Amino acid sequence: MLDAARRLITPSARSDVPPFMVMDVMAAAARIEAAGGRVIHMEVGQPADPAPSTAIAAAHAALAAGRISYTETLGIPSLRARIARHYADAYGVPIDPARVIVTTGSSGGFILAFLALFDPGDRVAIALPGYPPYRHILTALGCEPVLIECTQATRWAITPDMLLAAHRQTPLKGVLIGSPANPTGTMMTAPALHDLIDAAEGEGIAFISDEIYHGLDYAFAAETATRLSDNAVIINSFSKYFCMTGWRIGWMVVPEPLIRPVERLQGNLAISVPTLSQAAAEAAFDGRAEMEAVKHGYEENRRILLDGLPKAGFDKFLPVDGAFYLYADVFRFSDDSFAFAKRMLEETHVAATPGVDFDPLRGKSFIRFCYAGSAAEMHEAVQRIGRWLA
Ligand SMILES: Cc1ncc(COP(=O)(O)O)c(C=O)c1O
Repeated sequence: MLDAARRLITPSARSDVPPFMVMDVMAAAARIEAAGGRVIHMEVGQPADPAPSTAIAAAHAALAAGRISYTETLGIPSLRARIARHYADAYGVPIDPARVIVTTGSSGGFILAFLALFDPGDRVAIALPGYPPYRHILTALGCEPVLIECTQATRWAITPDMLLAAHRQTPLKGVLIGSPANPTGTMMTAPALHDLIDAAEGEGIAFISDEIYHGLDYAFAAETATRLSDNAVIINSFSKYFCMTGWRIGWMVVPEPLIRPVERLQGNLAISVPTLSQAAAEAAFDGRAEMEAVKHGYEENRRILLDGLPKAGFDKFLPVDGAFYLYADVFRFSDDSFAFAKRMLEETHVAATPGVDFDPLRGKSFIRFCYAGSAAEMHEAVQRIGRWLA
């Protein structure tokens, strides 16, 4: 039966994208927990806190009202207007609500942005280390991710020189940056972002800015690409700052010529974004005080790790500017971060993500810690690691 199916069904070459290695770490953590162990989870990049109570109440009310129907393809107009207002409130940048498009998480935003901007074969620059789905979604859509290796020298960001060098080799159609970044937690300064957008637009290279970790900035204020260009595509989400990962809701701000193409794509691909989540998202903006308290918790966790990890033995990591990640260099201990993370989990019950997920080569000497848990967990993780490395 299975053999017959295998003969008949041949998965497409484009579906052959790599899985997340962190899944193996999570499975090992689940086995330890099933045997009674207590794992400190610092491997998965998601907040431990729930959505704002305003969002949860709005979802209850929408559910109680009865019919949950499709919405406008680009999102409920009042939510689009509320998101536009957020740009005025948070950055002092006026945005036309017509340019705001509600998406199924930022993940849905990437698919729409790539489909609307690129054709198969188009080359799109992204930074290494970086969030793996950037390159995997591009590959699945037949585009070519152009991996630009970043280093400490450029604060782990793509510079105009690096972009233009790649463009001169074979022309680029787009560039995608994330700031604050995953896995590094580093941020681009406003002048660096400004210069990169200028360089890209000067060469006709479309600029995509993943701003999903905005709001979670500690070192300095994160700059939005919307202030710097009306032609940049902004991708954002309610998943991180608003603690709404499972609600699967995000948004884009697109240049005017992309509104209709994205509407056509989203209408065909999804019809609309889940209605209940849209109702909750609009109310989430009224819960910012709660989310600021959550953010202060991350700040405290960051402080605990910055102070405790060097004493415990991890004394080299990238600038911990924003998001809730710390990317630690473990080369002193191992040149196989996957094996190292597994051993650390087995022997300390602290789970972290091996860097190979984010950077296939240099990631062998890094692991990523997510510090979105509690302060007590951070203290305990530092202690367990310190005892282990001693
Ligand atoms: C940099 C970055 N972008 C996008 C996403 C996708 O988030 P979502 O689809 O939940 O909005 C993530 C999730 O971890 C991420 O780290």
